[in-house]
Amino acid sequence: MAYREIIGPSNPILRKKARLVRPAEIPGLQTLIDDMIDTMRQEPGVGLAATQVAVSKRVAVIEYGEPLPEDAPPDAVPPKPKLYVVINPEITMASEDMVDGIEGCLSVPGYAGNVSRHEAVTVKALNRKGQAIKIKAHGWMARIFQHEIDHLDGVLFIDKATKVWQLKENGSEPALVEV
Ligand code: NI
Repeated sequence: MAYREIIGPSNPILRKKARLVRPAEIPGLQTLIDDMIDTMRQEPGVGLAATQVAVSKRVAVIEYGEPLPEDAPPDAVPPKPKLYVVINPEITMASEDMVDGIEGCLSVPGYAGNVSRHEAVTVKALNRKGQAIKIKAHGWMARIFQHEIDHLDGVLFIDKATKVWQLKENGSEPALVEV
């Protein structure tokens, strides 16, 4: 596994709609997938799209663990983060219910924005073995899927945010999850 450089908005690949992956290509994408997982974990981030490492193919990785509720006992162990590899992901159902949340992005470091997203989505995709999968996500997990699928269409959170602000270095801003 190797770290891959993450590109920013000045690189046109980030703004281009990524192309669909043919099933026959999937065996040849395993190194890319491993590198994307490695890069996401090293940053760290909770999601990474292939377009962010300058590969214009519809592949994304997501790894997120729901935090413990505030009233959890002090010795409670948070659930293990769940890793998803999605190829050609597609939202097949989205809740009417929309929720606001603060997002960041590894391709737009130093900025955060308030983005309205569907509270729940169902995503259809292929996994890294080329098998069809269906994922029902809500809350933060649903937000991350929407953010990553936007990346594959060349869309960044700053395009959708109702408000974007620059984070102060070592500032008093709340810790943000970068996706
Ligand atoms: Ni992002």
